[in-house]
Amino acid sequence: MARHSDKTSAGAARKPGPGTLCIHAGATRDPATGAVMPPIHTSVTFAQAAVGAHQGWAYTRSGNPTRDALERCLAELEGGARALAFASGMAATATVLELLDAGAHVIAPHDGYGGTFRILGEVRPRSAGLRVSFVDCCDLEAIEAAMRPDTRLLWLETPGNPLLRIQDLAGACALARRHGVLTVVDNTFATPMLQRPLEFGADVVMHSATKYIGGHSDVLGGFLVAATPELGQRLHALRSVAGGVAGPFDSYLMLRGIKTLALRMERHCANAQAVAAFLAGHPRVRRVHYPGLPQHPQHALAQRQMRGFGGMMSFEIEGGEAAARAFLAGLRLFTLAESLGGVESLAGYPAAMSHSAMPAAQRHAAGIRDDLVRLSIGIEDAGDLIADLDAALG
Ligand SMILES: Cc1ncc(COP(=O)(O)O)c(C=O)c1O
Repeated sequence: MARHSDKTSAGAARKPGPGTLCIHAGATRDPATGAVMPPIHTSVTFAQAAVGAHQGWAYTRSGNPTRDALERCLAELEGGARALAFASGMAATATVLELLDAGAHVIAPHDGYGGTFRILGEVRPRSAGLRVSFVDCCDLEAIEAAMRPDTRLLWLETPGNPLLRIQDLAGACALARRHGVLTVVDNTFATPMLQRPLEFGADVVMHSATKYIGGHSDVLGGFLVAATPELGQRLHALRSVAGGVAGPFDSYLMLRGIKTLALRMERHCANAQAVAAFLAGHPRVRRVHYPGLPQHPQHALAQRQMRGFGGMMSFEIEGGEAAARAFLAGLRLFTLAESLGGVESLAGYPAAMSHSAMPAAQRHAAGIRDDLVRLSIGIEDAGDLIADLDAALG
């Protein structure tokens, strides 16, 4: 943890916990004024005393003091060399794919977020000739079998959206390294509070900060965190060209969100565990997907690589699509809406919402059924959430 002043140096030898890091990582205090939160620097340009002689910032697309404060904080939270903040999670994804030469081969999960599926499966194959194998990334043998001489990138997303399947981070990263392949991990669902993929050998962590990092459903943002300064430098150069940076106001909101991230994740996890147990015992529920349940197929792996099981879950309801839609219409406290990770509980229908980009056949093959409902468990009182679900299940 960077030091603010001599006052905090007494604790410097002790490794700070995640809650402490959320408040102090990145030393975001303003050195000029002592303001405990950094100012929002709206200026797009910065004066130069002579040509090229500036104080570290020239133009906001390449660097901005408010965004820099946020990036220092996130880099420390993920344990990376450098973080880069983007205007959205998809802007972060689009930029990390710019590392690849035209025609490169990519391996990605067959059951991941719909937007990632769209850019990898439709957009970049057309515009950059990318060739993508969508496989079950929970299965190391399937990843190994998909490796080719021209494979350059392994994309992981764990826990996966929307089935909460868990991929073996240490195993998959080691496998990719053996093949000289870069690993990028979408850590949106877990956040660095529950899982730090760089510790397992990943090269880049990606986030939709729109979700838990922002935490209040009021800011769109994304991140890349690079394991090494060299990779961070390359990604910074690519972002400066592509331009999808986080603005100063949004950077401030994300930094503010991070202050309570540890606390919020504790509550999300506790509430989700209670809701999952309730749903697992309900006669109208066919199956619950939540890594905190002992019957989850990768529960032991989740216990090994995560510090908590998170606030996301999905479940299959008896009665198919019609029953799922009726259930969603019956909710009162949960809001039917896109997105996740905010303080309020949300419900969604992946087949027609987050995963509508996936053709039905591919969606079904990946196990994303038409009776699947996804829940983002907020930080309300667990008893009230369970009562709402109970009433909507009828
Ligand atoms: C797991 C995951 N990754 C990436 C994204 C894309 O992020 P954004 O909507 O911030 O562009 C999302 C959005 O839902 C997501 O759930």
